[in-house]
Amino acid sequence: MMDMKIKQRSDYTFKYNKKLGRHGWLRLTPAYSVKLVEEIIDNLPEDYFILDPFSGTATTGLVAAEHGISAHCFDINPFLIWLGNSKCINYSYSEIKELKISIDKVIIKCQELVDEDNWLPNIHNIQRWWCEQTLKIIGALRQALVNQFGEPRENHVSSLAWISFCRLIIETSSAAFNHVSMSFHNEVIPFEIEQIESLYLEILEAIIQSAGENISGNSSVHFVDSREPTSIGDFQYSHVVTSPPYPNRISYIRELRPYMYWTKFLDTAREAGELDWKAIGGTWGIATSRLQDWESNGIELPESLKAVVFDILQTKEKNSLLMGNYVWKYFHDMHLHLQNLRPRLKKGAVLSYIVGNSSFYGVQVHTEQLLEDSLRSLGFTNIGSKIVRKRNSKKELFEYCVYATWQETRKYEPAYFNSRAAKQIQLELF
Ligand SMILES: C[S@@+](CC[C@H](N)C(=O)[O-])C[C@H]1O[C@@H](n2cnc3c(N)ncnc32)[C@H](O)[C@@H]1O
Repeated sequence: MMDMKIKQRSDYTFKYNKKLGRHGWLRLTPAYSVKLVEEIIDNLPEDYFILDPFSGTATTGLVAAEHGISAHCFDINPFLIWLGNSKCINYSYSEIKELKISIDKVIIKCQELVDEDNWLPNIHNIQRWWCEQTLKIIGALRQALVNQFGEPRENHVSSLAWISFCRLIIETSSAAFNHVSMSFHNEVIPFEIEQIESLYLEILEAIIQSAGENISGNSSVHFVDSREPTSIGDFQYSHVVTSPPYPNRISYIRELRPYMYWTKFLDTAREAGELDWKAIGGTWGIATSRLQDWESNGIELPESLKAVVFDILQTKEKNSLLMGNYVWKYFHDMHLHLQNLRPRLKKGAVLSYIVGNSSFYGVQVHTEQLLEDSLRSLGFTNIGSKIVRKRNSKKELFEYCVYATWQETRKYEPAYFNSRAAKQIQLELF
């Protein structure tokens, strides 16, 4: 009965964003849906101040700004910070006009550079992504962009040219993004220079068009590790709207690598592992080997977490110790985040966290319940969760919205995600 009722709701995933102006500039599968954020922030007055401590592609920041609400967003990934800020700023008519003139020069320069030995990124097995002929052309285009604008930089109209370049490299690659993670097509397609130029100009034109539409709110993305007590000033937020990483061993770095290497935000595989080690739930490269020896710094965590980790260890599978440590560290980091979030919250602040549950060797990890337990032990009030959607892969995998208030004694339950089917499932599960 359970599965018949709760739908997968692709409108509640990144797929919904593809054709929505700036939201569709660059896809990232862990991005959440604009619609979901809109439902959460529906009817908020413009003087509300939102925080998204796990910004990703800045969906929250951009939706807020589009609704005239201000937001701060945090992330630890420098590429995503650059991308997020580029999505949230306004571009003037004269800036865009100048950009178009510069791009004409870039295209001419690309043709001149195509037979030269241009810089190519240090991507492992790069021929799996692009054939030699395509690589030569996108290498020349990249060099022409660097000659014209320099490497990607914050708050500059040339970001539009670079974001278009990122789209181009993915659209000319053999990577397939039609499911949650990423895979490769069997063949790499060779492109001619004319095809690449016209594809690039087509992408740029679409991006420029949406960049020309002004947004009224102020949103910005900052380099902040959300587990740390340090922030960007004495700001206090009335709402936290976010989707943190899930405990499912999916590393953002895997999908972001091509963009990050081509734009020089990443240079080596080691750097990728280092970055993922800082990410909550990260497991790329060195992040996994470090996990073997990781020990908590002694913060008090809910008993329910100990029970789940114990069950994983009891499965006695080859990697049960590693997976137990993975789950432990994930919830440890999320607890630390929620603990250090408290001073940044206004009295009565409302938290909405979109999270997914997972399973390790048949042991169910109820992310929503474990986070609720952390919130309770940290003194939050009005704690609860609602089912948002069913995830596709396994029957028992769902996405939830975990909510809570800070220093609010009055009773509160959010109005969003109130479908009858979701309520029914919630009752059946617990
Ligand atoms: C699920 S994604 C967020 C997706 C986002 N809602 C969107 O629509 O694009 C989670 C983000 O959290 C970031 N992150 C992971 N650990 C972090 C930390 N310790 N501090 C700040 N951000 C972190 C990751 O880099 C990633 O961009």
